[in-house]
Amino acid sequence: MIGLIGGTGAEGRGLALRFAMAGRKVMIGSRNPERAASAAEEVRNLASDLDIQGSDNVTAAKNSQVVIIAVPYAGHKSVLAQIKDHLVGKVVVDVVVPLIFKDGVAHASIIEEGSVAQQAQSILPASFVVGAFHNISAHDLLIPDQPIDCDVVICSDSLKAKQCAIELAQLIPGIRPVDGNGLECSRYVEDFTALLLNINRIYGRHSMVKISGI
Ligand SMILES: NC(=O)c1ccc[n+]([C@@H]2O[C@H](COP(=O)([O-])OP(=O)(O)OC[C@H]3O[C@@H](n4cnc5c(N)ncnc54)[C@H](OP(=O)(O)O)[C@@H]3O)[C@@H](O)[C@H]2O)c1
Repeated sequence: MIGLIGGTGAEGRGLALRFAMAGRKVMIGSRNPERAASAAEEVRNLASDLDIQGSDNVTAAKNSQVVIIAVPYAGHKSVLAQIKDHLVGKVVVDVVVPLIFKDGVAHASIIEEGSVAQQAQSILPASFVVGAFHNISAHDLLIPDQPIDCDVVICSDSLKAKQCAIELAQLIPGIRPVDGNGLECSRYVEDFTALLLNINRIYGRHSMVKISGI
């Protein structure tokens, strides 16, 4: 089971759809189980034969082997503290970007630990944290027949977590996983999302990342 914490949002629903389209069992988590159930139903209606359930965040964390954190940065520390005991020994994929908007321009805020993924690892010392999927458009993920053509840069200090995130990325046709080194490099991938959002605003599109030369 793949659990999506904060999975009622666009990014969580988009990843839920794509993982379920690849045949994986998915649980959408929420602070409110009714909201989760309704998000799960909404995503199930986007394609056929999708195994997607909804639950509160704690149940999603408890019942999943791999847990994806997809909340706004404002809720990052508190949601991790709430589900921490259910993440021991598990791979935790953090997609959170610490965005702030000033005068219509997206910026990434400075994180004391270096990156959001490092913050997660410091809160979850008994889990295997990986930063990934930061630069992928939820809008495109949520359209089942929309082709995806981008790289997903994956940062972790754990080979097990990195391999798990590589396998998750490979579930979505058109995504190439790229090894982005350790967690200390996740800040560059997280922050790059702010640039993509500004590019999106200028071009009216949903930009993503492709790295050439490798
Ligand atoms: N949207 C994108 O295209 C995209 C792309 C890449 C990365 N990301 C990152 O992925 C994360 C999720 O993005 P999103 O657009 O899906 O965000 P979102 O819709 O703003 O939030 C996702 C869910 O998080 C829960 N939530 C909101 N505030 C919370 C809080 N203070 N504490 C705990 N849970 C809270 C809500 O679920 P409940 O109310 O149901 O609990 C909400 O539906 C963000 O960090 C974003 O930067 C987004």
